[in-house]
Amino acid sequence: MIELSGVTKRFGDTTAVNAVTLSIKPGQLCVLVGTSGCGKSTTLRMINRLIAHDEGEIRLDGQPVGEFEEALLRRRIGYVIQSTGLFPHWTVARNIGVVPRLLKWQRQRVRERVEELMQLLGLPVETFAGKYPHQLSGGQAQRVGVARALAADPDILLMDEPFGALDPITRRTLQHEMLTLQARLRKTIVFVTHDMDEALALADQLVVMDAGRIVQQGAPIELLREPTSPFVESLLGGQDRGLKEAALLRVKDRMLPLGPRLLASERIDLEAPLSQALSVMLWHRVDRLTVVDRDDLPIGELSLRRLLGAKPG
Ligand SMILES: Nc1ncnc2c1ncn2[C@@H]1O[C@H](COP(=O)(O)OP(=O)(O)O)[C@@H](O)[C@H]1O
Ligand SMILES: [Mg+2]
Repeated sequence: MIELSGVTKRFGDTTAVNAVTLSIKPGQLCVLVGTSGCGKSTTLRMINRLIAHDEGEIRLDGQPVGEFEEALLRRRIGYVIQSTGLFPHWTVARNIGVVPRLLKWQRQRVRERVEELMQLLGLPVETFAGKYPHQLSGGQAQRVGVARALAADPDILLMDEPFGALDPITRRTLQHEMLTLQARLRKTIVFVTHDMDEALALADQLVVMDAGRIVQQGAPIELLREPTSPFVESLLGGQDRGLKEAALLRVKDRMLPLGPRLLASERIDLEAPLSQALSVMLWHRVDRLTVVDRDDLPIGELSLRRLLGAKPG
């Protein structure tokens, strides 16, 4: 759906993006990650044509972006940035409805859409519709930013460090909400961040950039297990990679059915990440956990050996 091939952008002597080739399938959440100045934002902004590229091709559904009408691009591509870009003198409702109004939707339809989105993003209409941006917390403002980007039901969402200014707890909450939302909406998302933990938590497809180039891309677990350069290895956490990998795997991937032994003293949810199972083992000084399902019923067990990936027996 989104294809970049040999895309280059220069600002004077700086090559901000250098021969980038990248293909993002419909419904995928692609994360561009890399240190500040490596060309992430520029790449993103060439996709919605906020910046024109110098060389190469950018296509949406096979059609060069340059050939799309402005209004169609605006409808098809939502854009979320760190500072939210909300209009300070407009209410939340008016901010969310800006693109539908630009697209000349009927007033009633705009209102219904705005209310639907506020519900979806966990912003009760009665409480928030009339508030102004300065009356919102960082997390609430970011939710409004996402609602606004979704307003015209775009199939593509571009997100540039959207959670960058939030405290760690709000940030993790919004990351989690985003995955829930994405499971439901299945947008094609290009998400930019310099935070590797955020990248690993969100990405279907992880793209590591350095100095304007893509240095490696693939599924998060592939990059963790087989970084092709010391740079990617260190960016992915070096000796901390074990815990990052464990955070990507789930208890259900490694558990065994309940055996003849007594239940272990500590329990773990089958959907929990392996890193959490390891933490529980460390904390309680045990090497075996009882795995429970959603209703808290025992359905299996996880040994330290299994957690480590050893063969059963
Ligand atoms: N409008 C601009 N004018 C001049 N240089 C720019 C402009 N935008 C970005 N750059 C330069 O291009 C490079 C990539 O920037 P950017 O895409 O913003 O990186 P990132 O988002 O990864 O931090 C940097 O060296 C930056 O200074
Ligand atoms: Mg940037």
